[in-house]
Amino acid sequence: MIVTAHGKLNLSLDVLGRGEDGYHALRSVMHTVAFGDDLDVELTRDGSFTIDPGQSYLPADGRNLAVKAARLFLEGTGLGANIRVVKRIPVCAGMGGGSADAAAVLRALNALTGRGLSLQALAELGAQVGSDVPFCVTEGAALAEGRGEKLTPLPSLPACAIVLCKPAFSISTPELFARIDRRRSRLHPDTAGMIAALEEGDLAGVARRSFNVFEDVLGRRGSGIAAIKSALTEMGALGAAMTGSGSTVFGLFDDGEAARRAWEALAGQYQECWLTRPWSGGQA
Ligand code: C5P
Repeated sequence: MIVTAHGKLNLSLDVLGRGEDGYHALRSVMHTVAFGDDLDVELTRDGSFTIDPGQSYLPADGRNLAVKAARLFLEGTGLGANIRVVKRIPVCAGMGGGSADAAAVLRALNALTGRGLSLQALAELGAQVGSDVPFCVTEGAALAEGRGEKLTPLPSLPACAIVLCKPAFSISTPELFARIDRRRSRLHPDTAGMIAALEEGDLAGVARRSFNVFEDVLGRRGSGIAAIKSALTEMGALGAAMTGSGSTVFGLFDDGEAARRAWEALAGQYQECWLTRPWSGGQA
């Protein structure tokens, strides 16, 4: 069975505090994009698990989140899975690539085995694999709270164009959380305002409120992120921000031609740039 694993963006991302377990309470407006990995998933009768992760530098064993998800779903059934990934979502980029693959595997195995779990039940399983997996199971737009597993569905973005640009460096997620813990004062995104703008179908209102608290603690890498954000807004983006723990930056455009020009201009400077649009959920 072939399924698509859509990438995610954090249109806004707030960190509220650190819990006893070391995990952080988040508040993030998340959205899937029409851009992702393709996975070919088949069941094995002998209970074996294999993965072709699509890139030589990705784990090809049980450390891969797609395999973790498959093992969890098939536990106790005697079945295994062969998984082949066509990797397009940038790796260590804040777009939830590993989580999206895990979620796609859960959806595929649910169909292949005929188990018929609800999306809610699949999302709960996914939470055991990674904090972003539940959202990647449900897709579309949602407010994510808790570790990221408490999801409230939101209206999708109005039709728009999205330019993605990942600078050459990657950023470690645990390191950024540690920096957040050490910081005293903090700017917060206007999450309620962004939700209201989504409810009104007000793209400019959403874009204007795009903000990620991690942008505040990037240190010397901040200038690289700021340069892409400025380029995007100068070329017509209504708003731009870093997604997740970076380093991908997105810009939201109401003008498809302006988005194409921005994508072309950035692609001349950065190796990893994409032009896409919002994905409001449902299988491709
Ligand atoms: O859950 P996941 O494995 O995706 O998280 C990766 C790392 O990100 C965790 O080990 C933790 O350091 C950090 N994290 C966190 N708070 C969250 C989600 C992730 O501190 N809500």
